[in-house]
Amino acid sequence: MASPVTEAEVVRVRVAGKVNLSLRSGRRRPDGYHSLSTVFQAVSLYDEVDASWAPPGRFSVQVVGEQADQVPTGDDNLAVRAARLLARTWGAGKPLGADLVIRKSIPVAGGMAGGSADAAGALLACAVLWDLDISPDELRTLGARLGADVPFCLAGGTALGRGRGDELTSVLSRGTYHWVLAFSDGELSTPAVFAKFDELGLGSDHLDVPDGLLNALVSGDVQALGRSLVNDLEPAALALRPQLSHLLEAGDDLGAVASMVSGSGPTVAFLAANEPAAVDLSVRLSSEGLCRAVKRVSGPVPGARLLV
Ligand code: C5P
Repeated sequence: MASPVTEAEVVRVRVAGKVNLSLRSGRRRPDGYHSLSTVFQAVSLYDEVDASWAPPGRFSVQVVGEQADQVPTGDDNLAVRAARLLARTWGAGKPLGADLVIRKSIPVAGGMAGGSADAAGALLACAVLWDLDISPDELRTLGARLGADVPFCLAGGTALGRGRGDELTSVLSRGTYHWVLAFSDGELSTPAVFAKFDELGLGSDHLDVPDGLLNALVSGDVQALGRSLVNDLEPAALALRPQLSHLLEAGDDLGAVASMVSGSGPTVAFLAANEPAAVDLSVRLSSEGLCRAVKRVSGPVPGARLLV
C-alpha cells in the first residue's frame, strides 16, 4: 500500500462501471443468489470516491453528481458499509473513521454496477487512507461480501465471473470496443429483475460462455463480438420495462453492431463498429428522444485506481 496519508489529505479513487458481454444465469439457489457465468467488460464511465480522516467511529458519505439524490446516505450506503467492513476486519483494532464523498456518473440501479463500484472505490480509498496491510486479492475477497460485482469493480479489464459472478478469471481481450449507452429514467432493482427471471422460468443448467465470444475478444473482432453478446436477464428486464424494446430497435435501425440491455437494466448498451460510428450513433440516438441521456464510452479500462 502507499505511504501513510496525513489527516489533512484526501485519497481519491476512480472506479469504472461495467457492461456484461455475456450473462448466463441458472435458477435461484437456496441462498437466494443465482449461479452465473458472465463476461464483464469495464467501460470508461467513472465514479470517484474520496476518503478523508474522520474521528474514530464516524463514517459519513456525501453524494454529488448525476442522480445523487437517488443514493442513500445513511449506514445502508454501500460505500459506508464497505468502509465499516474494512475497518472492522482489517483495522487491527485501531480506532478508525472516514468521511467519504462520491461523485456519481454511473447510473443508479442502472445495470452497470454503480453501487458496487462505489463500494470498491471506498475499499481502496480507505485501505490507502488508513495505510492497511491488505493485498489486492484480499481486498477482492472482502469486496465479495458486499456485493457480487465488487471484486470485478476492483479488478476491471475483461473477466469471466462464475459463482455469484464474484469468482473471477481474467480474459484476454485485444483492442478497444466503442459503446453508446442509453440511460433511462428511473431504476430497475436487480432483485426485482432476478425475481421476474424466476417467474418466467428462464434459468438454465447450461451456463456456457457463448461460442465465439472469447475468440472474438482475442482477435479483436467487433462484428464477431456483436454476434456473441447474450444477456439472459434481458427478457426479464423487458417484461418489467417494455418500452426498452423501442430503444433496442432504434439501435438496430441506427446501425449499431449489436444492442442489448446492460446487466439487469434499464441501461441499454449499443456496440458500435468503431469510434466514428459511435459518435454518429450517439448523435442520432440523442435526437430520437427515447431516453434520459446518451453517453459514449469505450472498454476495456482498468478497475479501481488511485488518483491522488
Ligand atoms: O450481490 P448484490 O448485492 O449486488 O446483488 C443484488 C441482488 O441481485 C441479490 O440480492 C440477488 O437478489 C440478485 N443476484 C442474484 N444472483 C447473483 C447476483 C445478484 O440473484 N449472482
